[in-house]
Amino acid sequence: MKLGLCTGGGDCPGLNAAIRAVVKHAAGVHGFEVLGIRDGLTGLSTEPNQVIPLALPDVHGIIDRGGTILGTSNKGSPFRKKAEAARVVKMIERSWKRQGLDALIVIGGDGTQFMARHLVMLGFPIIGIPKTIDNDLIGSDNTIGFATAVDTAVDAAERLGSSADAHDRVMVLEVMGRDAGHIALHTGIAAGAHAVLLPEIPFRIEELVLRLQRRQALGRSSYLVVAAEGAHAVGGDRSFHGNPTGGEMLGGIGHRVAAALHERTGVDARATVLGHVQRGGAPNAADRLLATELGVRAVELAAAKKFGRVVGTRGGKLIDIPYLKISDQRRLVDLKSELIRVAEAVGVCLGRASDYVGAM
Ligand code: F6P
Repeated sequence: MKLGLCTGGGDCPGLNAAIRAVVKHAAGVHGFEVLGIRDGLTGLSTEPNQVIPLALPDVHGIIDRGGTILGTSNKGSPFRKKAEAARVVKMIERSWKRQGLDALIVIGGDGTQFMARHLVMLGFPIIGIPKTIDNDLIGSDNTIGFATAVDTAVDAAERLGSSADAHDRVMVLEVMGRDAGHIALHTGIAAGAHAVLLPEIPFRIEELVLRLQRRQALGRSSYLVVAAEGAHAVGGDRSFHGNPTGGEMLGGIGHRVAAALHERTGVDARATVLGHVQRGGAPNAADRLLATELGVRAVELAAAKKFGRVVGTRGGKLIDIPYLKISDQRRLVDLKSELIRVAEAVGVCLGRASDYVGAM
């Protein structure tokens, strides 16, 4: 069997660990050939094709490397417009035959998996592996990259926390996640933040002010807030800023919250945007394990010729579900989840009223 393999969408820690697992299991156990496709599906939809053979020596020593040895692209889907979609599908069809592929493993987030789903519906034998630091893919409890992004954000939040204590300041850390607050929620709880702002719960700044004032009454005004980039006030809009190459991206809520808290309490306030630091660098142990599990499982499915499925985890177990169950909907933070309950139970302000009456 000749397996194509690509990584698409925004990068994240653990992509190389997944590539390594696919190649090791495919070549080392099944004797399959693996062909790396460069820059997501782009390597198949451009002439000449951008492909590199991947053998066991090529994946030696990459389990801990950030980025992806195959490159990636998140320039938007060519499948949104009918004419463009037909052109790209034709190109992929031609390249598929030319390269002699029997199946393709696609490591990607929602955008990439949605494109793959389009191809699956046309009959292409594809298996998906979910990755994104946002952890917002429908169908899997965990996606590759999330655990490391949280570790990175917790480290940053703790550093800001000690600086906030030293200066008796408000520190706001803005983290990624688009319209899902998984990174912010996990980070805020793990770093012991005073407040966490999620896109799923529009916040009232007065709730944060109230908590800060309780601390001020005890002579303490250090205050650590973790804000998801997609968070917004009740009745307010999400914040966007320009990116240097044109276009707009989510961001800016951290500065808005810091300014609002300063204005209402007089406490000195600073905001830090963590940005793409969350996407780079070595994966932690949890992401290396997840990437290895999902990579092996994807090859097992290919060997069994069970195509058109996406691997993932549910309740701690490895699963695979049909591509057709994947949509471009996002998996948001479940407001009824234990983590939300536990956050408020230990006094994390989620920007809404809660039963917590303590000041610390
Ligand atoms: O989806 C991953 C993510 O890192 C989001 O958290 C963030 O909003 C976005 O990608 C940034 O994308 P770009 O690569 O275009 O800067």
